[in-house]
Amino acid sequence: YACDSKCLKTWHFLVLIYYIGIFRDKFMVQENYSAIIIGSGLAGLYSAIKLSQVMPNGKILMVTKCELGESNSRYAQGGIVGVLKENTADSVASHVSDTLNAGAGLSDFNVVKYISEKSNDVIHDLINLGVPFDRDENGELLFTLEGAHSVRRILHCNGDATGRGIEKRLSELVAQNEQVILKENTIAVEILKENDACKGVVLFDGSNYSVAFSNVVVLATGGIGQLYKNTTNPQCATGDGFALAYNAGAILQDMEFVQFHPTALAVQGEDANHLISESVRGEGAILVDENGKPFMQKYHELKDLAPRDVVARANFEEMKLSGKDYVFLNATVIPKEVQEKRFPSISAMCLKNNIDMTKDFIPVHPAAHYFMGGIKVNYDGRTSIKGLFALGEVSSTGLQGANRLASNSLLECVVSAYAMSEFVQKNIDDELIEMSDELNKVLKKYSQELGFIEYDTDVLKSELQSLMWDGVGIIRSEASLKDAQSRLNDLKSQFLRNEKCLSVQEYEFKNMLTVAQLIITSALQRKESRGAHYREDYPMTKEIAEHNCIIKEQGELSFVR
Ligand code: FAD
Ligand code: SIN
Repeated sequence: YACDSKCLKTWHFLVLIYYIGIFRDKFMVQENYSAIIIGSGLAGLYSAIKLSQVMPNGKILMVTKCELGESNSRYAQGGIVGVLKENTADSVASHVSDTLNAGAGLSDFNVVKYISEKSNDVIHDLINLGVPFDRDENGELLFTLEGAHSVRRILHCNGDATGRGIEKRLSELVAQNEQVILKENTIAVEILKENDACKGVVLFDGSNYSVAFSNVVVLATGGIGQLYKNTTNPQCATGDGFALAYNAGAILQDMEFVQFHPTALAVQGEDANHLISESVRGEGAILVDENGKPFMQKYHELKDLAPRDVVARANFEEMKLSGKDYVFLNATVIPKEVQEKRFPSISAMCLKNNIDMTKDFIPVHPAAHYFMGGIKVNYDGRTSIKGLFALGEVSSTGLQGANRLASNSLLECVVSAYAMSEFVQKNIDDELIEMSDELNKVLKKYSQELGFIEYDTDVLKSELQSLMWDGVGIIRSEASLKDAQSRLNDLKSQFLRNEKCLSVQEYEFKNMLTVAQLIITSALQRKESRGAHYREDYPMTKEIAEHNCIIKEQGELSFVR
């Protein structure tokens, strides 16, 4: 068959149209935005509000895996720290000192001071936005106390439903905001980079892929609780943001620091591991053994209000001594009328499980709760990749150090979001990004068919949760970490997905494997005990505190100094 040059040109043209057709089919949407926010917890919601204020003509995309507001933030109980000018008992110096003490040498003084100083403005901004913090009969803000805080400085909503109070109001504002385009039930699966700068993300809604371009991508994807068998975190906390950033080449820091909350409800069923807020101890409840005997005096001078890592380890030790998988919290010492006012949700949840906390002891045990490490950022969320920001629990600003002080994390979410929006306003141009060859190459994999059947990730996930709980939990050692590493490698060999996956659950599981590897490797590297990272083979704390920073280099994990 002879074909002249005109005919060849026609063929080339037809082939091109064919490929463009396939490409368009797989990427139904390729859109540009002024900013993209991944996650709709407190860091994401407040970022959307602040960015819309500093970019009055901007179009902001908010992508979230579940429905708007479903997040760790929604379930926060105790409250949010505010070092408020009107609280004369408090001061920045006192909050900074408490935070640094809990942080066990790994907190950054300048970041702690900045966040503490900014808390007054940001909390008042939340109040102006309509967040209903609890007040007394004279309209004065109420403050509670939690572990290792030296004064009452924690604001709360509806007694013990602070997260719900803040998230509900901010979700309303975001839903009403015409600048914010919301994509729910959509997962971000890859960060797009060109010339080492972040240019957007690949999104997957369970059926279709799409591409969102922007010079500002904000990861506000929360924590990792679901990596552990016992956790206070909801289903969405699968550590996606850490894996996305790591795969994109960002620096991550102190990935071994997992905070275990001492008091999660030790019952079976749907309320298993529901949090019993530290503020219950703040209002006077005490931990007791099965004979009703208090034990915290054996472990720390601050007793039941000692730093969280100390209380979690004490509960763990007492559980080992008694052979039971719980200790008790005696809240009967708190007057009934105080309980009703301060802990309506916790009381109701206990009653649902036949526990009347005015009369009965509450069975509790430790559970994975918060992640101190994360994507290394400045106080304003800037990562090591231009245009990529990380805020809230997925980030490591230097506030939380080796052990977070209670109620500091909601504060970090809002202060960093505030600072990020100021940085974006001053430094980033809202320009159109076009598809390039470099980006096109990266995107190719999503249009390839995977000729495999979908994995049952529930089974794989529960093996991962067990190995993390058994080997990378409250008390660690070289042997336990190596055992976890070998079980993790077995699991990896059963799950053959490197890049493209077949379902949202597969993407989540792939991310969980990546993050588990980062936690185990960092925990093996840190040959000391510090804050929440306790190694029974290295019980001492080194004199000089050093960060563990990691990066993916040529496909391999590498430590950076
Ligand atoms: P989250 O609130 O967890 O939000 C993450 C969001 O990202 C979610 O919307 C999720 O769906 C979405 N997401 C994740 N991955 C993807 C992806 N790949 N694509 C799209 N979307 C994605 N802290 C305090 O300061 N005070 C408290 O009283 C307090 N109580 C707590 C009680 C409980 C039970 C828990 C679990 C935590 C508590 N914490 C508390 C910790 C605090 O709630 C969290 O650290 C904080 O809310 C984290 O906010 P965030 O916005 O960073 O993440
Ligand atoms: C709690 O209410 O005990 C949780 C507080 C926190 O995690 O900061």
